[in-house]
Amino acid sequence: MPPVQRIYMTGFMGVGKSSVTPRVAKRLGFSSVDLDDGIVQHLGMSVPGIFEVLGEPIFRETEWKLLQECATRPSVVVSLGGGTLGNPDALKLCLETGLLIYLRAAPESLARRLSRSRHTRPKLFGPDGTMLKGQALEDRVRLLLEERKSVYEKAKIVIDVDGLSAFQITEKVLSAIKRGSA
Ligand code: S3P
Repeated sequence: MPPVQRIYMTGFMGVGKSSVTPRVAKRLGFSSVDLDDGIVQHLGMSVPGIFEVLGEPIFRETEWKLLQECATRPSVVVSLGGGTLGNPDALKLCLETGLLIYLRAAPESLARRLSRSRHTRPKLFGPDGTMLKGQALEDRVRLLLEERKSVYEKAKIVIDVDGLSAFQITEKVLSAIKRGSA
């Protein structure tokens, strides 16, 4: 396998993409990009603010534009948003320009992690504009994961992360990259 120029980390919200990405990048001597941070910087607003004021289509347009910029950079690990690959062009770009890695977790553990996380994900908000809780949160996670998992599973490498620390996930990712497959 030729040396990998770019690694794209995908997976559901809360799976740990943002904490694993800089660790993997550091170990490889690559730079690290968090797509959500890039969008927030570019539009000068928080993610919930962008969804509320500008609307999801503007968020997705910006996400796509910034991903295309990442795809021209050498030696980079990119943490995608959980919904980035909903755009078929984004999936194609990631598959063609780098190594796509899916961090996979079960819906129950995702819901558990998300309920403890910062409540900044509009896709998990209820009708009152605040984050869903308990069974309603788990139901939303299941639904979105069901819609998205066939796309996530197009990744070249799939890593099961349930019960693992960021350190352990990083080790698994690095050895899978070395082997070229999981
Ligand atoms: C989204 C995931 C978020 C962020 C936005 C939408 C999604 O990123 O891009 O809230 O549609 O799954 P994380 O996966 O980093 O939370």
